[in-house]
Amino acid sequence: MRHEMPETFFITTAIDYTNSPPHVGHAYEKVLADVIARYHRLKGEKVFFLTGVDQHGQKVQQSAAKAGIPPAEFVKDITHKFVDLWKKLDVKYDGWAETTSDRHKKVVQGILQRLFDEGQIYKDKQAGYYSVRQEQFLTDKERGSDGEFGPEWGEIEFREEENYYFKLNQYKEWLLSYLNDRKDAVIPDFRQTELRNAVERIGGDLCISRPRSRLDWGIELPFDKDFVTYVWFDALTNYISFAGYDPNTVAIGLRPVGTAHSAVATTEFDAQPQEFRDKWPALQIIGKDVLVPAHGIYWLIMLHAIGFPNDQMPQLLVHGWWNLGGAKMSKSAGNIIDPIVLCEKYGADALRYYLMSDVATGQDADFSEERLVERYNADLANSLGNLLNRSLTMIEKYRARKLTRPKSVESYPVEEYGLRVSPALGVIEYVNAMTGRTPHLACQVALNLTLQCNQIVDAARPWALAKDSAEREHLDQVLYTLAESLRIIAVLISPVLPKAAHGIFDQLNWKMELSGKEGRFSLADAEWGRLPDGHVVGKPVPLFPRIEATGL
Ligand code: MSP
Repeated sequence: MRHEMPETFFITTAIDYTNSPPHVGHAYEKVLADVIARYHRLKGEKVFFLTGVDQHGQKVQQSAAKAGIPPAEFVKDITHKFVDLWKKLDVKYDGWAETTSDRHKKVVQGILQRLFDEGQIYKDKQAGYYSVRQEQFLTDKERGSDGEFGPEWGEIEFREEENYYFKLNQYKEWLLSYLNDRKDAVIPDFRQTELRNAVERIGGDLCISRPRSRLDWGIELPFDKDFVTYVWFDALTNYISFAGYDPNTVAIGLRPVGTAHSAVATTEFDAQPQEFRDKWPALQIIGKDVLVPAHGIYWLIMLHAIGFPNDQMPQLLVHGWWNLGGAKMSKSAGNIIDPIVLCEKYGADALRYYLMSDVATGQDADFSEERLVERYNADLANSLGNLLNRSLTMIEKYRARKLTRPKSVESYPVEEYGLRVSPALGVIEYVNAMTGRTPHLACQVALNLTLQCNQIVDAARPWALAKDSAEREHLDQVLYTLAESLRIIAVLISPVLPKAAHGIFDQLNWKMELSGKEGRFSLADAEWGRLPDGHVVGKPVPLFPRIEATGL
């Protein structure tokens, strides 16, 4: 059965391990999700943006032990650091996932019990090589062409133990056919190819437990108290447990028509609470290291195994890594950049702009503070900030801050000054960039409009027009063009630069009743000519003070 389109745009990120404080890689993913979420709100959609922290597992247990603090206390402290960062970075989520919460625990246990009752989980003994970093047993398939396990697996040790296994292997054909049918299951598409190749190599089932004697810090298996849940069945479930999924609805089988949750529950999915069905499926943003096998294989198969139909599978948007000196930024490599420090030094907008404008979604990037400063000074201080400042200064000086709206609203001087693009075309390019999940191209559209306006000022020379009474109308038209362009640019940059967008609106004296509120910005408003005749703008205040590059 085809399902209706969901009412809400649901977007998630990976949940971060609470074994160490956040770094720029974590910040990038959450800002990317925040920008996409804000763009959908800008379009007037209802949005549910879920992010959070992954608090269980061996890494956390080890880090807590090292610090000499109980894990529960340790994760509280680190969790606080993540929450604090999102606040400082203007990452505005609607749902917050903490995997130690009762709500989450109940859903994980409900799903495991159901799969166990259905015979999809069994106990077995395993002996073999184990990756401590990835917390999993390795098979020969994980060996490289030289016969060795690659550095991505970290420290390897030999282990023998009894555990519980989920029958993953039986779903291989289903996953292949799903990926064949849905070409955009994973974006960018080279990642879908990578996933498909990995699925071909699936050769065994998934170990879903750890003996409590070895790992205590996790969710207890509902059918065996001597074991806790292995990290992925716990972590991945957050995407549905914090969105209103009810494991018991499906555990008791299909509800007859007309009962509790749905009047026409013809599939298990349809029997889920309305709250959940309204949101699901999600666009899920993850880094390339957690596509294979975690999200691309385990997660999709888990959802299928608990009755999610193919048209309710999430879409995975896979981003690259932020590297430092050519290596992935990570705590274990010891090459992390602290986003809080950058935020305090340059402000949230400067960091957000750098992260969004300087890397193509899906590609890796090398972090450079010099580059952050360079982009800020060139694009924000010298181009956008300068345009705002000089425009308002001229409107103040030549027209006592009052605009005259030209008779023809189609007055943007594309041809007169040999400009490339009108704001109307710019908005179309912007929408295409955002729809394609490429915020760097969206930033470029806003920057192009800004550069064009500065070009208009240089060509029109308002200071010369002001001296010639025959050019009165011409000057009015130039000043209106600048103010109106700035208003549209503010709308377009608002997902990436929320603070600056408010700053521009404030100085334009526009929609003051909504000052500071996100609802102030709407894409429908990015239409030429909305500033009324006689509108009085505010006073110019520097928006992006230049950063002096000393001390970098
Ligand atoms: N807890 C797991 C994910 C569970 S999702 C159900 C995890 N945590 S993590 O803290 O290691 O990484 C969280 C996210 O940050 C992942 O999507 C990961 O790819 C991303 N990044 C971590 N380091 C990164 C960079 N250096 N650069 C960009 N993103 C990277 O994996």
